[in-house]
Amino acid sequence: MSQALVILITGSSSGFGFITASRLASKGHQVIATMRNTQKKDALLDEVKKRGGTLEISQLDVIKKDSIKETIARVIKEYGHIDVLINNAGFGIGGFFEDLTDEEIRQQMETNFFGVQNVTREVIPHMRQRRRGKIINISSVSGFSASPCFGAYNASKWALEAFSESLRYELKLFNIDVVLIEPGTYKTNIFFENARYAKNFDNPQSPYYPISQFLKAKVMKFVNACRKNPENVAALIEKLIIQQHPPFRNIPDWEGKILYICRKILPFGLYSWIIKQALFYDFDDKDEVIQEL
Ligand SMILES: NC(=O)c1ccc[n+]([C@@H]2O[C@H](COP(=O)([O-])OP(=O)(O)OC[C@H]3O[C@@H](n4cnc5c(N)ncnc54)[C@H](OP(=O)(O)O)[C@@H]3O)[C@@H](O)[C@H]2O)c1
Repeated sequence: MSQALVILITGSSSGFGFITASRLASKGHQVIATMRNTQKKDALLDEVKKRGGTLEISQLDVIKKDSIKETIARVIKEYGHIDVLINNAGFGIGGFFEDLTDEEIRQQMETNFFGVQNVTREVIPHMRQRRRGKIINISSVSGFSASPCFGAYNASKWALEAFSESLRYELKLFNIDVVLIEPGTYKTNIFFENARYAKNFDNPQSPYYPISQFLKAKVMKFVNACRKNPENVAALIEKLIIQQHPPFRNIPDWEGKILYICRKILPFGLYSWIIKQALFYDFDDKDEVIQEL
């Protein structure tokens, strides 16, 4: 490895954050793996031990500005700077708009969108001073392709993409790169322990009940059959952190690449027809749903 970088990652207790933190630590980087609940740290420490390397675990909740300020200040004091910030922490809430409460939608934005801004705001001044740094935002295919039942999550990632694109221009002035990672579906805790559903998701009185139950079962079948390896996302991050002029959009898998190309080149009418067919071809009332949506 050419140079050991100081890297701060959010949401390292599981999934992409967990794998990326342990992979980068095993490659000799100085990783500050942050998590909101440090009681979950043992699994990560075991993984790092297994892979070889060391890292530091630090408490950070992306919606708690005090915890962010404290952690960033301490990291800067200890290491002098941060080379790479990986904004990874996030969750997804399932549910049709009318089944979601305002509060649930706000919570989604608080973590996936404002959470990224909270951490980034604290880190930028240090990178700007050095005229050096990289900010990697973990978005999703949901940041450029929306679907029913995931509107709140789609909105949070869509907003993250616009913010990242704007910030990329702003920070280029100071030699700081901003890049996006847009993964397709991977079998991580986001679909299991960390999954959240709208207040009325399981309410049989909801007019969306049959279709949201159908979509949930369909998504879970897809996730359980999913063979994509989250390690590939970590490998892409490893490549990007040392790349001199990293591209803005980075899609680690074919699912995402195909979706992105289709979204770019197909007329929206055709694109949305394909999405509806893919989602509902095996729904009992498919003809009605496909026509009406
Ligand atoms: N898996 C996929 O298919 C997929 C696809 C595209 C994009 N993504 C994105 O990838 C990122 C990581 O997700 P994942 O799939 O690795 O899911 P995951 O296994 O559920 O990991 C999510 C991580 O975010 C943390 N987190 C949630 N809210 C937080 C907060 N307020 N402050 C700090 N940490 C918080 C979780 O901590 P706790 O353990 O404390 O809950 C956990 O460590 C997310 O931004 C997600 O939207 C995932």
